[in-house]
Amino acid sequence: MGDRYANPGGHGFVCGGAASWGLRPLACLAAVCRAKSTSSTQRRPLPELKKVYVYDNREAAADALIDELQTEVPFTLIKGKSPEEVTKSCEVLSSATIILKDPLSVVKKEWVSAGQTILPCDLNTFWDPEIARSAGKYIVDSIEEHELFEQMGYFPAGLAPIAGETGEVLAGVKPGREHADELILNSNIGMAVCDVTVGRAIYDRALATETGTLLNLKPSPRNARS
Ligand SMILES: NC(=O)c1ccc[n+]([C@@H]2O[C@H](COP(=O)([O-])OP(=O)(O)OC[C@H]3O[C@@H](n4cnc5c(N)ncnc54)[C@H](O)[C@@H]3O)[C@@H](O)[C@H]2O)c1
Repeated sequence: MGDRYANPGGHGFVCGGAASWGLRPLACLAAVCRAKSTSSTQRRPLPELKKVYVYDNREAAADALIDELQTEVPFTLIKGKSPEEVTKSCEVLSSATIILKDPLSVVKKEWVSAGQTILPCDLNTFWDPEIARSAGKYIVDSIEEHELFEQMGYFPAGLAPIAGETGEVLAGVKPGREHADELILNSNIGMAVCDVTVGRAIYDRALATETGTLLNLKPSPRNARS
């Protein structure tokens, strides 16, 4: 989800904005709220990000997220009134709500506009499936994993054509956004390799800052198998 600018760990629907880029704000739909478990480094924003909209269908959850994070981030958190308002207000949109086999289609295709970047963390649930079909590019972190979800009964209308994987775009093997009006939908459902990489980074940082607790993982003689 908008995780490059503010990753509340839990999530929801978040959108944000970089006014100085002439972009509409960035938004996060159903943004909530494991903020307590989020380190300050995860909250580092895009440098020119000015506004982030937060929407959750439990209003108290959006309030709690904003209360907890506003003093710690250099952009303005705005509580969105509705998914429609947030979708129409923002350049980049991210959702992390719930993953269901049958899409909720909360965000309608007609609310989405050219040039937006959509980052669902909740697979196929929150967005009208037609949005992926009409996107300039539908990019996923793992084609294999998305196809597996499809085989399990998610994407009941079928997976939309996939333009490539996020890693391919990052490596320059496949194109990402090619023009400002392109609608980009980038679904990153999570891969073990990312968890391992982040784990290694956390470990290295703990060593460098001499923080954390060293666990003795050697079996004690009492528990050791003979
Ligand atoms: N892609 C990834 O790498 C990744 C990683 C972690 C979690 N997830 C997914 O992200 C989602 C959120 O996970 P979480 O741990 O933050 O869950 P959570 O239950 O803590 O938070 C989800 C929030 O979404 C809100 N919500 C639910 N339905 C909504 C709707 N229709 N409209 C607006 N808000 C709505 C809830 O009120 C809740 O506050 C889950 O679907 C989870 O599977 C994805």
